[in-house]
Amino acid sequence: MDTKDKISVLISEEELDKRIRELGEEISREYEGKELHLISILKGGVFFTCELAKRINVPVSIDFMSVSSYGSGKITSGVVKIIKDLDEDIEGKDVMVVEDIIDTGTTLSYLMEMLRQRKPASLSLCTMLDKPERRLHEVKVDHVAFTVPDKFIVGYGLDYDQKYRNLPYIGVIEN
Ligand code: IMP
Ligand code: MG
Repeated sequence: MDTKDKISVLISEEELDKRIRELGEEISREYEGKELHLISILKGGVFFTCELAKRINVPVSIDFMSVSSYGSGKITSGVVKIIKDLDEDIEGKDVMVVEDIIDTGTTLSYLMEMLRQRKPASLSLCTMLDKPERRLHEVKVDHVAFTVPDKFIVGYGLDYDQKYRNLPYIGVIEN
């Protein structure tokens, strides 16, 4: 941990665990009798995806995609770039995109549209965190673990300059 940054806990490990179990049950009921193809958005979405996947009891497959709309700091550039595309075709599959946080919505509004053009049988979106106050582009979100205030958040996959992804809780950097 960087000693310069003071981080306070916003959502504890226990709260996250409990909520992810609930979401897993919800999603399992929704996809009963089907198979679910999860698309985890690198890098931040990976921690949440793994925990969520463990709580889903229909057959699950996982693929990864890396997109970028951010520079290295706290400010968005508004540009969405595909850095790593999916390994597998999604045509005809029941697909759920799993993301760490939806902030301005720039990344996901673009990405969901692009994935829809690949003709999945269904396409939904599950995000660990939703920061609705900052939305610039509309995004239809199907599952949200927690809604958060307009603060810069780290932990459980979320980084500040690539640090703090490994925190087992959701925290806020105090200025
Ligand atoms: P959007 O395109 O503005 O919705 O931004 C989405 C991406 O920005 C997320 O996938 C994160 O990688 C990053 N991001 C947005 N807000 C935060 C935050 O509070 N902490 C860390 N990363 C963030
Ligand atoms: Mg991200």
